[in-house]
Amino acid sequence: MNALNKNSLTDAYQRQINYLRVSVTDQCNLSCCYCAPFRPGHGGTPLPPKDRLMSFDEMLRLVKIGVDLGISKVRLTGGEPLCRRGVTRFIEKLSRIPGIKDIGLTTNGILLESMARELRDAGLNRINVSLDTLGTARFKQITGKDAWHRVWDGIMAALALGFSPVKINTVVMKGVNDDEVVDMARLSLLYPLHVRFIEYMPIGPDPRTIRGYFISGTELKNRVGQLGKLIPMVRAPFDGPARRFKIQGAPGEVGFISSMSDHFCSRCNRMRLTATGALRPCLLADDEVELVRRLREGCSDSRLRELFFKALSMKQGAHGLDFEGHGLKTKMVQIGG
Ligand code: 5AD
Repeated sequence: MNALNKNSLTDAYQRQINYLRVSVTDQCNLSCCYCAPFRPGHGGTPLPPKDRLMSFDEMLRLVKIGVDLGISKVRLTGGEPLCRRGVTRFIEKLSRIPGIKDIGLTTNGILLESMARELRDAGLNRINVSLDTLGTARFKQITGKDAWHRVWDGIMAALALGFSPVKINTVVMKGVNDDEVVDMARLSLLYPLHVRFIEYMPIGPDPRTIRGYFISGTELKNRVGQLGKLIPMVRAPFDGPARRFKIQGAPGEVGFISSMSDHFCSRCNRMRLTATGALRPCLLADDEVELVRRLREGCSDSRLRELFFKALSMKQGAHGLDFEGHGLKTKMVQIGG
């Protein structure tokens, strides 16, 4: 614990945590090959029963404690966050917490078209939609569901409602979708979309697949460069880890998230709340501090604050994923990126 700074979450590496990612469910309506543990043939552990999930009121209490400690940005993740009933109302309540300046959502877009308006009205600022391909058949291969058009319609609805930015997350896998990198980047020339290419991480069903699938952010950037000059963007206060560029003349942007080849741990400003009620100092480590059981046993706010600091003290300088297939026990669907 940093005794000098008990009101803000500054860790041993002088990183200040102001961003909390809240996984509202570990259920998902897709089963993407790089993420879901349940694809036939991939094995995996069963998801916990629903009553093990935190209630929205429990999440609100924990978020408020985080805000007292300097959290000003919150992002909802999953599983698929829009699968959890009541999520819009939750966003509305979050948006009324003084101190929260920015609320984001990472979604697979399946339910987005029907929910975009209520989400905006509830106070959501930013939307990131996962989309790895522009091909309908390939979408089904990657996600297990024939629903490309639903996601696309969701993205268009989000743009039409004025969400800004609307980001697209594309996990690039060699031999799966890497032939579409230039086409995906071209979306930023056609629409005010921010297309972000994410290096494949060994956190899906089989970490050893990283050897076959991995393509570095630098290589992706070189390929995107075919479309025109890449103008670097100045970093903004709420920026994430992407290296951002604008293709000359584009209304949108492209970005590269190099979690493996050039990790950005020294700039990390995040902690995560899992759907099952634990605080995690890092997406890419299995460490966590259990909160919800304590909360249900009547734990005081000041004790919960101490537990935030305990999680902070567990935050490593850098993540331990590698190219040898050392992954995590946690599966991505449990924590939602
Ligand atoms: N490698 C990289 N990114 C991943 N995501 C999920 N699994 C992986 C993986 N194995 C990302 C997806 C999604 C976000 C929630 O997490 O891009 O947008």
